[in-house]
Amino acid sequence: EDRPVDGAKRVLLAAPRGYCAGVDRAVIAVEKALERYGSPVYVRKQIVHNIHVVTELEKKGAIFVDQVNEVPEGSHVVFSAHGVAPSVVQEASARQLHAIDATCPLVTKVHREAVRFARDDYEILLIGHDGHEEVEGTAGHAPDRVTIVNSPEEADTVQVKDPSKVVWLSQTTLSVDETMETVDRLRARFPELHNPPSDDICYATQNRQVAIKKVAREADLVIVVGSANSSNSVRLVEVAREYGAKAAYRVDYADEVRQEWLDGVRTVGVTSGASVPEVLVREVLDALSEAGYADVEEVRTAEEDLMFSLPKELRQDADGKR
Ligand code: F3S
Repeated sequence: EDRPVDGAKRVLLAAPRGYCAGVDRAVIAVEKALERYGSPVYVRKQIVHNIHVVTELEKKGAIFVDQVNEVPEGSHVVFSAHGVAPSVVQEASARQLHAIDATCPLVTKVHREAVRFARDDYEILLIGHDGHEEVEGTAGHAPDRVTIVNSPEEADTVQVKDPSKVVWLSQTTLSVDETMETVDRLRARFPELHNPPSDDICYATQNRQVAIKKVAREADLVIVVGSANSSNSVRLVEVAREYGAKAAYRVDYADEVRQEWLDGVRTVGVTSGASVPEVLVREVLDALSEAGYADVEEVRTAEEDLMFSLPKELRQDADGKR
């Protein structure tokens, strides 16, 4: 039992936390594109769902747009880590844009599954949040075949045409537990429900949830660094609450940590979403240190060494080939 002596304040810092391989690659892709082509480089949607990352890239000359039709013809445009529907790729090419596809390879994998199951005549139940960019991109790969299932409750009411030919896929950044509950409830209604060939919830999402579960069991308060539109960050707050943290909050920046959150708190758990640079976590730790929580212990549940090579458009140019 390594509880601190009575009254001692401490921080348990979850690991893994922060940047995943897909985010790292997407951010570097925009930086490399700026170096190579000069500013402006356009980016369709937030490259990753973090306000700090987006602001820093804007300072370097990136221009973020919602739609490809806002990009001047002939310009360079980067597609975000969340992926795009084929219709977006076509639109970009019709506008003579030089597209750089920073879609995370683990999202592309789900796109391929959607295409294959649609071709094999399956109906696809896509577990994920309606309106999230990744869900739009995945659904766009099999537009007539996909029905979105937002929650375990929706699993009880969703309708399919042929229950013998149904498969489920999912967004990569969901709660593992909640997704399994959704699948169980779907299978209760559709016993022949087919499983995807491998996990759609990515390694980074899974690892960050496992780590915060361990921390949350011992924490009075959990602080998750991440932006409000970051699905995996918001899930970390929910998972922390479910696994025993008395309170859990999300912040973008250290100055959002409120003094009253710390009232009566001995152990603070800290983690960050997959789109969050470590500097933002350091700033939260500095703020906590000033509030008397200087003792920081890392709680590591997995090692990560996955790295993805850059988008092919940037690799090809680097080789001098076209
Ligand atoms: Fe990719 Fe997962 Fe990160 S899908 S972008 S590795 S959160």
